[in-house]
Amino acid sequence: MKLANRLLLFSVGLIGVLMVVIVYLVEVRLYHRIRDERIAELSREARLVAAQWSGGSDPEALVRVASATLDGRVTLIDATGTIVADAELGGIPSGRVGTRARRPEVARAREASVGVGVGETSSGSGEELYVAVREPVGIARVAVNTGSLSHIFKQGRNDVLIAGVIALILASLLASLYARYVSKPIIELRDMARSLAEKDYKLKMPAYAPGEIGELAESLEELSVRLEALERVQREFVANVSHELRTPLTIAGGFALTLSKGDPPLEKRQAFAKSILANTRRMQRIVEALLDLSKVESGGWAPRLEQIELSSVVSEVLEDLQDTYNDKYVEVVEEIAPDASVISADRIAARQILGNLVQNALRHTSSGRITIFSEAAEMGTWVGVSDTGEGISPEHLPRIFDRFYRVDSARSRESGGTGLGLAVVKHMIEAHGGRATAESSPGRGTTMRVFFPARAARLRLTPAHGAAVAT
Ligand SMILES: Nc1ncnc2c1ncn2[C@@H]1O[C@H](COP(=O)(O)OP(=O)(O)OP(=O)(O)O)[C@@H](O)[C@H]1O
Ligand SMILES: [Mg+2]
Repeated sequence: MKLANRLLLFSVGLIGVLMVVIVYLVEVRLYHRIRDERIAELSREARLVAAQWSGGSDPEALVRVASATLDGRVTLIDATGTIVADAELGGIPSGRVGTRARRPEVARAREASVGVGVGETSSGSGEELYVAVREPVGIARVAVNTGSLSHIFKQGRNDVLIAGVIALILASLLASLYARYVSKPIIELRDMARSLAEKDYKLKMPAYAPGEIGELAESLEELSVRLEALERVQREFVANVSHELRTPLTIAGGFALTLSKGDPPLEKRQAFAKSILANTRRMQRIVEALLDLSKVESGGWAPRLEQIELSSVVSEVLEDLQDTYNDKYVEVVEEIAPDASVISADRIAARQILGNLVQNALRHTSSGRITIFSEAAEMGTWVGVSDTGEGISPEHLPRIFDRFYRVDSARSRESGGTGLGLAVVKHMIEAHGGRATAESSPGRGTTMRVFFPARAARLRLTPAHGAAVAT
């Protein structure tokens, strides 16, 4: 059932129930209370009459006066049950004197001192309420016409019914308006969600969406922005990967084709085979780096933290890169602070992170010095690599941690770079609960830093952004 109809049904039902409750309260409770009140009053009056009778008043005169005063009918019955005096409304004698009183309230009063009865008026025009009380002298009975009381209640019931019907109509109107007013933004939200599902990210926000519905709309809008970004990133990523793999694939494929067709001289054969190998290695590196990235990103990898001597990691890294830096006029200096000589890290990841930074520094420094340093901080250790190389200009600096981002892609590719090294560094250090920063001044050099938290077992503490600062 539609939300609007449910709301409508609910409010109409509520009013219906309320009406029944009101009618019940008025009809049953109030009517009986007033009637009980009236009975109590009548029995007090009957006792007064009886008291006067006991005091020796003449029954005939007493009955006449009392009937006139009380605007009812007063009857006196002696102990044997014979009517002694009786008068109709206004004190007119009824002519039943001498007969036996047979009415039930008289019988009840004889047994229980007070009896109450209801009957038709002698004229048949409505209900009469009888109250009889017993005193030693006999029974005094007072009767009044309750027609007015019933009449008032009948009218009251009608009023309630009329008011109820009006309320029902009004409420249905209001409820249907309100239901529409509530359900409209919800319907719009539903349409928003549907268009999101159909990858339409240009959402139309509801014109009027109060309270939680508004918040929901905002969340949906946020979701759509994120989804759109995610989709763009995904598209770009696939395009990048294809682009990066296409060149080495084409080269390797081309040489393999040439080799398969003819029989070139040995020299050429070797050159072709070398090229095929180099390009295959390159593709391997790309695929491995991508696997590393997805491993960290999917959350399936967590660093196995241990306390590591930084100098041992540095030695391993330098050993790995020995061939590279031996070719260069570059001095590599180790400046490990005594109070920052141990880091809490995954050994393999630490080697990979530092290796990447040192390799980058070597690649972009033709002569000068590369310093591997560490600094103690309050919550952990900063490990950095600074060089006196070409530097990175400010417009490139914020993007160097992005996948496949290279300042000079042709040159980077030539030297075997994939543009994924810093992306892997950033992901891995964030998995340690740390972060990576870069500072650089073009022509003078670059300083890259990674922060290892002291006992960082928490995964992805910081939002996934490597801070980058230009100096
Ligand atoms: N120390 C540095 N000096 C100058 N430029 C740097 C330095 N470190 C990184 N860069 C720039 O940032 C880019 C991205 O570095 P990243 O390590 O991600 O990729 P890469 O080194 O090109 O490839 P790979 O790490 O796979 O060998 C580099 O291409 C380079 O342009
Ligand atoms: Mg690199």
